[in-house]
Amino acid sequence: MKIGILKENKFGEKRVAIVPSSVSALSKKGYEFFVENGAGILSNYSDNDYSNAGASIVDKNSIFECDIVCKVNSPAEDEISSMKPGTLFISLIQTIKEIDCVRNLASQKISAFSLNLLPRTTLAQKMDVLSSQANIAGYKAVLIASNHIGKYMPLLMTAAGTISPSRTLVIGAGVAGLQAIATAKRLGAQVEAFDVRPEVKEQVESLGAKFVEVDSESSDGVGSGGYASETSDEYKAKQQELMKERVGKSDIVITTALIPNRPAPMLIPQDMVETMNPGSVIMDLAAENGGNCELTKENEIVNHNGVLIDGNANLPSTMAFHSSQLFSKNIEAIIDHCHTEEGFKLNKEDEIIDGMLFIENGELRHQPTKEAM
Ligand code: NAI
Repeated sequence: MKIGILKENKFGEKRVAIVPSSVSALSKKGYEFFVENGAGILSNYSDNDYSNAGASIVDKNSIFECDIVCKVNSPAEDEISSMKPGTLFISLIQTIKEIDCVRNLASQKISAFSLNLLPRTTLAQKMDVLSSQANIAGYKAVLIASNHIGKYMPLLMTAAGTISPSRTLVIGAGVAGLQAIATAKRLGAQVEAFDVRPEVKEQVESLGAKFVEVDSESSDGVGSGGYASETSDEYKAKQQELMKERVGKSDIVITTALIPNRPAPMLIPQDMVETMNPGSVIMDLAAENGGNCELTKENEIVNHNGVLIDGNANLPSTMAFHSSQLFSKNIEAIIDHCHTEEGFKLNKEDEIIDGMLFIENGELRHQPTKEAM
């Protein structure tokens, strides 16, 4: 079984889907690796590192001879048309959003895994690219924010006077949010967090942050599978009121609120931004899905009356060495999961494979994607 690793071509992307350590590990199980030359350069994995791990360094066209092709981001049009029918393509494609790409995969009779569709089960945790990358985004968001504000994060008592700790508010305490809380706490900031799922209160508090609660009797916002769902208008109004008070007092606001397959909820309108002090910053980690702040512009830093709204939509790429290493470990676990005594098999009765395999030999299998088309 031949596995190809493509060089990323999305603007600003520095990651690579598979790193040399995974090449060595899977080569021992009989997989043969082909790496597009320079694929790992931007994440500091050289062609030499890949050759030493047992991979062949080839030109782009030769990658399309492989049985499995891996990439971080969705395939480009010319990449799809170069693949042979029956190839298994593995990437972070958002099937409902990227309908044209799905159409092209269908007409080329490709099979594909979307890493976004991995079921969130205990067994699948080690394969979960969304979690490994969200963790990095949460960590890096705090570092960048602390760099943006012209302030110390911790409380300092010096001969020149006392500095009070900066205030960080994290909205959405999922994987990225919890890592942001932990990182801001480590830097000494005063941290509070909010989430629509009340069960995260304990996790927020165990990290030493304060949980901000909306006074509500209903199960608003609690979705299935550990995810959030859309909230009622009454809940939204209460949340807005509470947020306005907290956002205005914060030096750093980190928003990570997402709802699967929906645009990100808009939680910080312009008038709320205007309650913030000049020099404070909003890191909008939901920028790729429309953003949690009304003023967010994807991959831009907006300056609104001195408040910065940072819409960097690919924070994991800014830590490409480790984000690629973790991404690669996740893919390695997926390939391992499909590995049987007779080699690589797509067992569609397996919940994990069934969940990710949204298209097989051009035939769409994922109902929400079919409906979106
Ligand atoms: P996500 O990226 O979909 O959402 C981020 C956070 O935003 C969530 O905590 C969500 O509740 C919150 N949110 C959504 N709408 C909001 C609103 N209007 N206001 C405030 N907050 C809002 O979720 P993520 O981080 O990928 O995972 C959520 C949870 O799923 C995790 O905390 C974990 O419990 C579970 N999980 C389970 C896994 C597994 O078992 N394999 C893997 C990853 C996560």
